[in-house]
Amino acid sequence: MIKDEVYILAIESSCDETAAAVVKNGREVLSNVISSQIALHTQYGGVVPELASRKHIEKINQVIEAALSEAGMALDQMTAIAVTYGPGLVGALLVGVAEAKALAYGAGLPLVGVHHIEGHISANFLEHPDLEPPLLCLVVSGGHTHLVIMKDYGEFEIIGRTRDDAAGEAFDKVARAIGLGYPGGPKIDMAAREGNPHAMEFPRAKIEGSPYDFSFSGLKSAVLNFLNHEKMAGNEVSRADLAASFQNAVVDVLVCHTIFAAKEHGIRKIAIAGGVASNTALRAAMAAACEKEGIQLYRPSPIFCTDNAAMIGAAAYYEYKKGVRSGWDLNAVPNLKLGER
Ligand code: KG4
Ligand code: ZN
Repeated sequence: MIKDEVYILAIESSCDETAAAVVKNGREVLSNVISSQIALHTQYGGVVPELASRKHIEKINQVIEAALSEAGMALDQMTAIAVTYGPGLVGALLVGVAEAKALAYGAGLPLVGVHHIEGHISANFLEHPDLEPPLLCLVVSGGHTHLVIMKDYGEFEIIGRTRDDAAGEAFDKVARAIGLGYPGGPKIDMAAREGNPHAMEFPRAKIEGSPYDFSFSGLKSAVLNFLNHEKMAGNEVSRADLAASFQNAVVDVLVCHTIFAAKEHGIRKIAIAGGVASNTALRAAMAAACEKEGIQLYRPSPIFCTDNAAMIGAAAYYEYKKGVRSGWDLNAVPNLKLGER
Protein backbone atom coordinates (compact mmCIF):
# COMPACT_ATOMS: atom_id res chain seq x y z
CA MET A 1 0.00 0.00 0.00
CA ILE A 2 1.53 3.34 -1.05
CA LYS A 3 1.38 6.02 1.64
CA ASP A 4 -0.41 8.65 -0.45
CA GLU A 5 -3.16 6.28 -1.50
CA VAL A 6 -6.52 7.04 0.06
CA TYR A 7 -8.87 4.13 0.74
CA ILE A 8 -12.35 5.11 1.82
CA LEU A 9 -14.94 2.76 3.27
CA ALA A 10 -18.23 4.45 2.32
CA ILE A 11 -21.67 3.74 3.75
CA GLU A 12 -25.06 4.73 2.28
CA SER A 13 -28.45 4.10 3.92
CA SER A 14 -30.52 7.21 3.13
CA CYS A 15 -33.54 5.44 1.64
CA ASP A 16 -34.16 1.82 0.66
CA GLU A 17 -30.71 0.47 -0.22
CA THR A 18 -28.18 -0.61 2.39
CA ALA A 19 -24.83 -0.07 0.69
CA ALA A 20 -21.11 -0.10 1.40
CA ALA A 21 -18.11 0.30 -0.88
CA VAL A 22 -14.35 0.65 -0.83
CA VAL A 23 -13.07 3.37 -3.15
CA LYS A 24 -9.42 4.10 -3.88
CA ASN A 25 -8.36 7.70 -4.50
CA GLY A 26 -11.95 8.76 -5.19
CA ARG A 27 -12.03 7.11 -8.60
CA GLU A 28 -11.37 3.41 -8.38
CA VAL A 29 -14.15 1.16 -7.09
CA LEU A 30 -12.62 -1.81 -5.25
CA SER A 31 -16.03 -3.07 -4.12
CA ASN A 32 -19.64 -1.90 -4.33
CA VAL A 33 -22.14 -3.92 -2.31
CA ILE A 34 -25.85 -3.05 -2.37
CA SER A 35 -28.62 -4.77 -0.46
CA SER A 36 -31.86 -3.65 -2.03
CA GLN A 37 -35.12 -3.51 -0.08
CA ILE A 38 -37.32 -3.50 -3.19
CA ALA A 39 -38.91 -6.87 -2.39
CA LEU A 40 -39.81 -5.66 1.12
CA HIS A 41 -41.47 -2.42 0.03
CA THR A 42 -43.17 -3.78 -3.12
CA GLN A 43 -46.04 -5.22 -1.09
CA TYR A 44 -46.84 -1.69 0.21
CA GLY A 45 -46.45 0.05 -3.16
CA GLY A 46 -43.66 2.33 -1.91
CA VAL A 47 -40.97 2.79 0.74
CA VAL A 48 -42.22 2.41 4.34
CA PRO A 49 -39.70 4.43 6.41
CA GLU A 50 -39.93 2.39 9.61
CA LEU A 51 -39.43 -0.88 7.75
CA ALA A 52 -36.52 0.64 5.83
CA SER A 53 -34.71 1.55 9.09
CA ARG A 54 -35.19 -1.91 10.53
CA LYS A 55 -33.91 -3.58 7.38
CA HIS A 56 -30.85 -1.31 7.36
CA ILE A 57 -30.04 -2.39 10.92
CA GLU A 58 -30.39 -6.02 9.92
CA LYS A 59 -28.15 -5.73 6.86
CA ILE A 60 -25.56 -3.06 7.52
CA ASN A 61 -22.87 -5.19 9.17
CA GLN A 62 -23.12 -7.90 6.52
CA VAL A 63 -22.92 -5.34 3.72
CA ILE A 64 -19.84 -3.65 5.21
CA GLU A 65 -18.11 -7.00 5.77
CA ALA A 66 -18.85 -7.98 2.18
CA ALA A 67 -17.49 -4.66 0.87
CA LEU A 68 -14.21 -5.06 2.78
CA SER A 69 -13.87 -8.70 1.81
CA GLU A 70 -14.58 -8.05 -1.90
CA ALA A 71 -11.95 -5.31 -1.84
CA GLY A 72 -9.57 -7.77 -0.17
CA MET A 73 -8.90 -5.26 2.62
CA ALA A 74 -9.33 -4.92 6.36
CA LEU A 75 -10.84 -2.04 8.27
CA ASP A 76 -7.44 -0.96 9.62
CA GLN A 77 -6.20 -0.51 6.04
CA MET A 78 -8.78 2.20 5.40
CA THR A 79 -7.78 5.88 5.39
CA ALA A 80 -11.22 7.16 6.38
CA ILE A 81 -14.87 6.21 6.81
CA ALA A 82 -17.50 8.13 4.85
CA VAL A 83 -21.24 8.15 5.32
CA THR A 84 -24.32 9.82 3.85
CA TYR A 85 -25.80 12.05 6.57
CA GLY A 86 -28.53 13.74 4.51
CA PRO A 87 -30.87 14.33 2.84
CA GLY A 88 -33.05 11.25 3.21
CA LEU A 89 -35.28 9.39 5.65
CA VAL A 90 -34.14 10.28 9.16
CA GLY A 91 -34.40 6.77 10.63
CA ALA A 92 -32.66 5.25 7.62
CA LEU A 93 -29.85 7.84 7.66
CA LEU A 94 -29.31 7.32 11.39
CA VAL A 95 -28.42 3.66 10.91
CA GLY A 96 -25.57 4.51 8.54
CA VAL A 97 -24.39 7.49 10.60
CA ALA A 98 -24.32 5.55 13.88
CA GLU A 99 -22.51 2.63 12.23
CA ALA A 100 -19.92 4.89 10.57
CA LYS A 101 -19.26 6.75 13.83
CA ALA A 102 -18.81 3.49 15.77
CA LEU A 103 -16.45 2.03 13.14
CA ALA A 104 -14.40 5.20 12.80
CA TYR A 105 -14.13 5.68 16.57
CA GLY A 106 -13.21 2.05 17.16
CA ALA A 107 -10.59 1.97 14.41
CA GLY A 108 -9.25 5.46 15.13
CA LEU A 109 -10.08 6.64 11.61
CA PRO A 110 -11.31 10.03 10.43
CA LEU A 111 -15.03 10.35 9.63
CA VAL A 112 -16.39 12.26 6.63
CA GLY A 113 -20.12 13.03 6.38
CA VAL A 114 -21.32 13.27 2.78
CA HIS A 115 -24.31 14.93 1.11
CA HIS A 116 -26.31 12.31 -0.79
CA ILE A 117 -26.71 14.47 -3.91
CA GLU A 118 -23.03 15.37 -3.94
CA GLY A 119 -22.55 11.61 -3.98
CA HIS A 120 -24.89 11.17 -6.95
CA ILE A 121 -23.03 13.86 -8.92
CA SER A 122 -19.65 12.36 -7.96
CA ALA A 123 -20.72 8.97 -9.39
CA ASN A 124 -19.61 10.48 -12.69
CA PHE A 125 -15.97 10.50 -11.52
CA LEU A 126 -15.92 6.75 -10.91
CA GLU A 127 -15.81 5.73 -14.56
CA HIS A 128 -14.42 8.85 -16.21
CA PRO A 129 -10.87 9.37 -14.96
CA ASP A 130 -10.48 12.45 -17.17
CA LEU A 131 -13.59 14.24 -15.85
CA GLU A 132 -13.00 17.35 -13.74
CA PRO A 133 -15.30 20.22 -12.77
CA PRO A 134 -16.56 22.69 -13.90
CA LEU A 135 -19.53 20.84 -15.35
CA LEU A 136 -23.31 21.04 -15.51
CA CYS A 137 -25.15 18.17 -13.87
CA LEU A 138 -28.77 17.15 -14.21
CA VAL A 139 -29.64 15.42 -10.93
CA VAL A 140 -32.81 13.36 -11.25
CA SER A 141 -33.71 11.06 -8.38
CA GLY A 142 -36.75 10.03 -6.38
CA GLY A 143 -36.52 13.10 -4.16
CA HIS A 144 -34.64 15.67 -6.27
CA THR A 145 -34.64 17.27 -9.69
CA HIS A 146 -31.90 19.86 -9.90
CA LEU A 147 -29.78 21.50 -12.54
CA VAL A 148 -26.47 22.08 -10.79
CA ILE A 149 -23.29 23.80 -11.89
CA MET A 150 -20.43 22.03 -10.16
CA LYS A 151 -17.80 24.78 -10.14
CA ASP A 152 -15.18 22.81 -8.29
CA TYR A 153 -15.07 19.78 -5.99
CA GLY A 154 -17.59 20.47 -3.22
CA GLU A 155 -18.74 23.75 -4.82
CA PHE A 156 -22.22 23.77 -6.27
CA GLU A 157 -24.65 26.31 -7.66
CA ILE A 158 -28.22 25.11 -8.13
CA ILE A 159 -29.57 26.98 -11.16
CA GLY A 160 -32.82 25.03 -11.60
CA ARG A 161 -35.08 22.83 -9.52
CA THR A 162 -38.49 21.23 -9.60
CA ARG A 163 -41.36 23.32 -8.31
CA ASP A 164 -43.37 20.25 -7.29
CA ASP A 165 -42.68 16.55 -7.89
CA ALA A 166 -39.19 15.20 -8.52
CA ALA A 167 -38.78 13.38 -11.84
CA GLY A 168 -38.47 9.98 -10.12
CA GLU A 169 -41.52 10.73 -8.00
CA ALA A 170 -43.51 11.45 -11.19
CA PHE A 171 -42.38 8.11 -12.64
CA ASP A 172 -43.38 6.33 -9.43
CA LYS A 173 -46.81 8.00 -9.15
CA VAL A 174 -47.72 7.47 -12.80
CA ALA A 175 -46.56 3.84 -12.66
CA ARG A 176 -48.82 3.25 -9.68
CA ALA A 177 -51.76 4.95 -11.42
CA ILE A 178 -51.44 2.90 -14.58
CA GLY A 179 -51.06 -0.32 -12.63
CA LEU A 180 -47.38 -0.99 -13.20
CA GLY A 181 -46.56 -0.91 -9.50
CA TYR A 182 -43.34 -0.26 -7.59
CA PRO A 183 -40.61 0.69 -8.33
CA GLY A 184 -42.17 2.87 -10.98
CA GLY A 185 -39.16 4.19 -12.88
CA PRO A 186 -37.74 0.87 -14.08
CA LYS A 187 -41.26 -0.49 -14.76
CA ILE A 188 -42.17 2.47 -16.98
CA ASP A 189 -38.77 2.26 -18.69
CA MET A 190 -39.47 -1.41 -19.56
CA ALA A 191 -43.10 -0.95 -20.59
CA ALA A 192 -42.22 2.07 -22.75
CA ARG A 193 -39.92 -0.06 -24.93
CA GLU A 194 -43.03 -1.70 -26.45
CA GLY A 195 -44.97 1.56 -26.78
CA ASN A 196 -45.28 4.53 -29.13
CA PRO A 197 -43.87 7.70 -27.50
CA HIS A 198 -46.06 9.87 -29.74
CA ALA A 199 -49.34 7.99 -29.16
CA MET A 200 -50.50 10.75 -26.77
CA GLU A 201 -49.07 14.24 -26.60
CA PHE A 202 -48.77 15.24 -22.94
CA PRO A 203 -47.89 18.79 -21.81
CA ARG A 204 -44.31 19.99 -21.33
CA ALA A 205 -44.41 22.53 -18.51
CA LYS A 206 -42.47 25.78 -18.90
CA ILE A 207 -42.14 28.16 -15.97
CA GLU A 208 -42.38 31.81 -16.92
CA GLY A 209 -39.12 33.62 -16.11
CA SER A 210 -37.39 30.44 -14.78
CA PRO A 211 -36.20 28.51 -17.84
CA TYR A 212 -34.18 26.01 -15.80
CA ASP A 213 -36.95 25.05 -13.37
CA PHE A 214 -39.16 22.00 -13.77
CA SER A 215 -42.73 21.05 -12.95
CA PHE A 216 -44.10 17.53 -13.28
CA SER A 217 -47.36 17.64 -11.35
CA GLY A 218 -49.35 18.97 -14.36
CA LEU A 219 -48.00 16.15 -16.51
CA LYS A 220 -48.94 13.58 -13.90
CA SER A 221 -52.48 15.02 -13.72
CA ALA A 222 -52.73 15.04 -17.52
CA VAL A 223 -51.90 11.32 -17.62
CA LEU A 224 -54.44 10.56 -14.89
CA ASN A 225 -57.14 12.66 -16.56
CA PHE A 226 -56.50 11.00 -19.90
CA LEU A 227 -56.74 7.57 -18.29
CA ASN A 228 -60.01 8.39 -16.49
CA HIS A 229 -61.51 9.92 -19.60
CA GLU A 230 -60.71 6.85 -21.71
CA LYS A 231 -62.01 4.51 -19.00
CA MET A 232 -65.31 6.44 -18.77
CA ALA A 233 -65.65 6.28 -22.53
CA GLY A 234 -65.09 2.52 -22.33
CA ASN A 235 -61.92 2.68 -24.42
CA GLU A 236 -59.04 0.30 -24.01
CA VAL A 237 -55.78 2.14 -23.23
CA SER A 238 -52.40 0.71 -24.19
CA ARG A 239 -50.25 0.78 -21.08
CA ALA A 240 -47.13 0.64 -23.21
CA ASP A 241 -48.20 3.68 -25.26
CA LEU A 242 -49.13 5.56 -22.11
CA ALA A 243 -45.80 4.75 -20.44
CA ALA A 244 -43.85 5.69 -23.58
CA SER A 245 -45.75 8.97 -24.09
CA PHE A 246 -45.38 10.00 -20.44
CA GLN A 247 -41.70 9.10 -20.43
CA ASN A 248 -41.17 11.00 -23.66
CA ALA A 249 -42.69 14.15 -22.12
CA VAL A 250 -40.44 13.91 -19.03
CA VAL A 251 -37.32 13.21 -21.07
CA ASP A 252 -38.08 16.01 -23.51
CA VAL A 253 -38.25 18.61 -20.74
CA LEU A 254 -35.17 17.29 -18.91
CA VAL A 255 -33.06 17.31 -22.08
CA CYS A 256 -34.29 20.70 -23.39
CA HIS A 257 -33.71 22.50 -20.08
CA THR A 258 -30.27 20.94 -19.60
CA ILE A 259 -29.03 21.76 -23.09
CA PHE A 260 -30.41 25.31 -22.85
CA ALA A 261 -28.67 25.84 -19.48
CA ALA A 262 -25.36 24.50 -20.83
CA LYS A 263 -25.50 26.81 -23.84
CA GLU A 264 -26.51 29.87 -21.80
CA HIS A 265 -23.68 29.27 -19.31
CA GLY A 266 -21.12 28.32 -21.96
CA ILE A 267 -20.53 24.91 -20.35
CA ARG A 268 -19.31 22.13 -22.65
CA LYS A 269 -19.53 19.23 -20.18
CA ILE A 270 -22.86 17.76 -19.09
CA ALA A 271 -23.23 14.97 -16.54
CA ILE A 272 -26.38 13.18 -15.43
CA ALA A 273 -26.95 11.62 -12.03
CA GLY A 274 -29.53 9.95 -9.78
CA GLY A 275 -31.87 7.00 -10.25
CA VAL A 276 -33.71 8.48 -13.25
CA ALA A 277 -30.34 8.90 -15.02
CA SER A 278 -30.48 5.13 -15.54
CA ASN A 279 -33.56 5.61 -17.75
CA THR A 280 -32.87 4.25 -21.23
CA ALA A 281 -34.79 6.96 -23.08
CA LEU A 282 -33.18 9.80 -21.10
CA ARG A 283 -29.69 8.41 -21.68
CA ALA A 284 -30.32 8.08 -25.42
CA ALA A 285 -32.02 11.47 -25.87
CA MET A 286 -29.37 13.32 -23.86
CA ALA A 287 -26.61 11.61 -25.85
CA ALA A 288 -28.24 12.60 -29.16
CA ALA A 289 -28.79 16.22 -28.05
CA CYS A 290 -25.22 16.56 -26.74
CA GLU A 291 -23.79 15.12 -29.92
CA LYS A 292 -25.80 17.61 -31.98
CA GLU A 293 -24.50 20.51 -29.87
CA GLY A 294 -20.92 19.25 -29.66
CA ILE A 295 -21.18 18.94 -25.86
CA GLN A 296 -19.38 16.15 -24.00
CA LEU A 297 -21.82 13.93 -22.06
CA TYR A 298 -20.94 11.87 -18.97
CA ARG A 299 -23.28 9.13 -17.76
CA PRO A 300 -22.56 6.77 -14.87
CA SER A 301 -23.39 3.09 -15.48
CA PRO A 302 -26.94 2.40 -14.23
CA ILE A 303 -25.62 0.69 -11.06
CA PHE A 304 -23.88 3.96 -10.10
CA CYS A 305 -27.01 6.05 -10.92
CA THR A 306 -29.33 4.48 -8.37
CA ASP A 307 -28.34 4.61 -4.71
CA ASN A 308 -24.93 3.08 -3.97
CA ALA A 309 -22.00 3.73 -1.64
CA ALA A 310 -19.23 3.99 -4.25
CA MET A 311 -20.56 7.44 -5.21
CA ILE A 312 -20.32 8.45 -1.52
CA GLY A 313 -16.70 7.28 -1.50
CA ALA A 314 -15.98 9.39 -4.58
CA ALA A 315 -17.48 12.54 -3.05
CA ALA A 316 -15.82 11.87 0.32
CA TYR A 317 -12.37 11.67 -1.27
CA TYR A 318 -12.46 15.31 -2.39
CA GLU A 319 -13.89 16.44 0.95
CA TYR A 320 -11.17 14.46 2.74
CA LYS A 321 -8.44 16.01 0.57
CA LYS A 322 -9.78 19.46 1.46
CA GLY A 323 -9.45 18.60 5.14
CA VAL A 324 -13.15 18.11 5.90
CA ARG A 325 -13.64 15.91 8.97
CA SER A 326 -16.89 15.23 10.81
CA GLY A 327 -17.07 15.15 14.58
CA TRP A 328 -18.50 12.41 16.80
CA ASP A 329 -21.60 14.60 17.02
CA LEU A 330 -22.37 14.01 13.31
CA ASN A 331 -26.11 13.59 13.03
CA ALA A 332 -28.63 12.68 10.32
CA VAL A 333 -29.99 15.79 8.58
CA PRO A 334 -33.09 14.76 6.60
CA ASN A 335 -33.38 18.03 4.65
CA LEU A 336 -29.69 18.88 4.24
CA LYS A 337 -29.13 21.43 1.45
CA LEU A 338 -26.53 20.88 -1.25
CA GLY A 339 -23.30 22.76 -0.50
CA GLU A 340 -24.25 23.07 3.20
CA ARG A 341 -22.25 21.52 6.05
O1 KG4 B 1 -31.31 8.07 -6.77
P1 KG4 B 1 -32.31 7.06 -6.37
O2 KG4 B 1 -31.90 5.60 -6.42
O3 KG4 B 1 -32.85 7.34 -4.93
C1 KG4 B 1 -33.10 8.66 -4.50
O4 KG4 B 1 -32.11 9.32 -4.09
O5 KG4 B 1 -34.26 9.06 -4.61
O6 KG4 B 1 -33.58 7.31 -7.30
C2 KG4 B 1 -34.73 6.54 -7.19
C3 KG4 B 1 -35.69 7.02 -8.24
C4 KG4 B 1 -37.05 6.34 -8.12
O7 KG4 B 1 -38.05 7.32 -8.22
C5 KG4 B 1 -37.06 5.41 -9.31
O8 KG4 B 1 -38.36 5.15 -9.82
C6 KG4 B 1 -36.23 6.17 -10.31
O9 KG4 B 1 -35.19 6.73 -9.55
N1 KG4 B 1 -35.66 5.30 -11.34
C7 KG4 B 1 -35.95 5.38 -12.66
C8 KG4 B 1 -35.29 4.31 -13.29
N2 KG4 B 1 -34.60 3.62 -12.35
C9 KG4 B 1 -34.84 4.24 -11.16
N3 KG4 B 1 -36.73 6.26 -13.32
C10 KG4 B 1 -36.86 6.10 -14.64
N4 KG4 B 1 -36.27 5.10 -15.32
C11 KG4 B 1 -35.48 4.19 -14.70
N5 KG4 B 1 -34.89 3.20 -15.40
ZN1 ZN C 1 -30.34 8.80 -4.33
